[in-house]
Amino acid sequence: MNSNLSQPDKIRIQRVRLTFPSEAGPVRVLDGIDLAIKEGEFVTVIGPSGCGKSTLMNLVSKTVEHAADQFEGTIDIAWRSNAAHRLGYVLQKDTLLPWRTLEANVGVGLEIMGMPSHEREAQVQSWIHRVGLAGFEKSYPFAMSGGMRQRANIIRTLACNPEVVLMDEPFGALDAQTRMTLQQLLIDLWHAAKTTILFVTHDVEESILLGNRVVLMSRRPAKIHRVFDIDIPHPRSVIDARVAPAFQDAYREIWKELKGDIELSQLKNSAAKGIA
Ligand SMILES: Nc1ncnc2c1ncn2[C@@H]1O[C@H](COP(=O)(O)OP(=O)(O)OP(=O)(O)O)[C@@H](O)[C@H]1O
Ligand SMILES: [Mg+2]
Repeated sequence: MNSNLSQPDKIRIQRVRLTFPSEAGPVRVLDGIDLAIKEGEFVTVIGPSGCGKSTLMNLVSKTVEHAADQFEGTIDIAWRSNAAHRLGYVLQKDTLLPWRTLEANVGVGLEIMGMPSHEREAQVQSWIHRVGLAGFEKSYPFAMSGGMRQRANIIRTLACNPEVVLMDEPFGALDAQTRMTLQQLLIDLWHAAKTTILFVTHDVEESILLGNRVVLMSRRPAKIHRVFDIDIPHPRSVIDARVAPAFQDAYREIWKELKGDIELSQLKNSAAKGIA
């Protein structure tokens, strides 16, 4: 059951269509996306490779501008503040600044927001402790593992207390154990802060473990194929949730829908590259 149904819509995506120009002619990527996300919801997005998940996230974050003839529809976010960091965006590859230490990286957003240094230092320390990075405050990114860097990347975003966090495969490059640790960490952080999160993943398991709802996109040109409510109570344990009947039902259902699209899309990609 979705406990957020009484909340107002935080993000409203309506009739979004997007076409990219290409040498072979226009390529329709998104073909009528409608999705409303409630304040405080954790929504995961899954779909075949190349269907347009990152493109959709870029549109929501407004990191891409499109000519009017390529883009139709509306994307509205109900902001509560004018703060510079009301939206956080976490990608698969961390965007830590190599010349800054861990603590200086985690504090960079707070610094830009003009938080006084004593207050900032206390906040940064507290975040570093919460994610088990104490002792590495003076380390530079090159001397940190992939999991440590991604932890730092996430807390750097959350430290700014954003209203909306977009995450595009943030754990995609991590080994299985580190991924599980960070999934649990993210569940716990979200449970404490109830930020609105839109999270893209390739991994069906991850989409169910994290999401209140899983949005399944079809292959390109993408529509929303189906939305699954995940009836596993929060705060979840990534270990226990895997054996919950609701997890197994959702896993079976999602794979049933996804299978055809993946096979077809892979064939299409191979053909486009002249492999098939
Ligand atoms: N700037 C661009 N110009 C032209 N085509 C683009 C551009 N960005 C993305 N595309 C095309 O749009 C489609 C969707 O790309 P996108 O990166 O959104 O897919 P995705 O679902 O995130 O894929 P993956 O799961 O592999 O990350 C692809 O066919 C891609 O080639
Ligand atoms: Mg992508």
